[in-house]
Amino acid sequence: MNQDELKALVGQAALAHVVPGSIVGVGTGSTVNKFIDALAAIKGQIAGAVSSSEQSTERLRAHGIPVFDANTVERLPVYVDGADEIDHRGHMIKGGGAALTREKMVADLADRFICIADASKLVRTLGAFPLPVEIIASASAQVTRRFAALGGQATLRPGVITDNGHPLLDVRGLAITDPLAMETEVNQWPGVVSVGIFARHKASVCLLGTADGVRTMQ
Ligand code: 5RP
Repeated sequence: MNQDELKALVGQAALAHVVPGSIVGVGTGSTVNKFIDALAAIKGQIAGAVSSSEQSTERLRAHGIPVFDANTVERLPVYVDGADEIDHRGHMIKGGGAALTREKMVADLADRFICIADASKLVRTLGAFPLPVEIIASASAQVTRRFAALGGQATLRPGVITDNGHPLLDVRGLAITDPLAMETEVNQWPGVVSVGIFARHKASVCLLGTADGVRTMQ
């Protein structure tokens, strides 16, 4: 199976975690696109979705799935999203698709985070994938200096402005051995909107697409 087929496999498998009659939290990315396409087949069995990006909203609506504003929803039973990296404890790097802030907001509404990913995303230690950080533009130099002090090289992602109107830094060279501590630290830096470490909102379950089928990690 190629990577695209593995993504389709886990997108389909995530349907088993959707609670009938509920509103589903929906992430962003090529793997989530497969989930949205699978969700369309059971759209009559759900109330709708809360989306983490304009891109996912557009795809959900194109399938005729109602999309609710996050402000109108108090709790979601599940949030389904991909990852750029996931470790064996469910900590993730996210934000490759620039949607990290809203992804974290929707994940925060959810009782369970169902991560869907192909097996290439599973790592021992987070950090080989450049860490996305959404920032206020005028803080970029200071945040870059703070990462340098931790051994990371931050660069602005060229040509990218998030759905919230902010630029993104990608930080290379970090070995994130304590994801919760680093998330907590970076979150406190003035000018950081959000950091793409998902340790406080780690995956409850990861459906990993492998050559042998879907492997469930929890
Ligand atoms: C978007 C994300 C995505 O979940 C992450 O980039 C994985 O994307 P893909 O499924 O396309 O590999 O965090 O901000």
